[in-house]
Amino acid sequence: MKVRIDSGRCQGHGRCYDLAPEVFGEDDEGYGQVRGDGDVAPVDERAARLAVSNCPERAIDIL
Ligand code: F3S
Repeated sequence: MKVRIDSGRCQGHGRCYDLAPEVFGEDDEGYGQVRGDGDVAPVDERAARLAVSNCPERAIDIL
């Protein structure tokens, strides 16, 4: 599983990195960023899917 944040849609709500801190981080302005190249370890997939479904802007895509 791999994820990507669309920086054009992200408004910095921060739910992604609150719900799945192993998968997402934040930049200096609070916008979400994927950690590394966006590959999600199997152990983190559940949290990543939760983040996807909780992003108010639908800014996170599963590739
Ligand atoms: Fe952005 Fe959605 Fe996360 S708006 S900071 S990708 S919860």
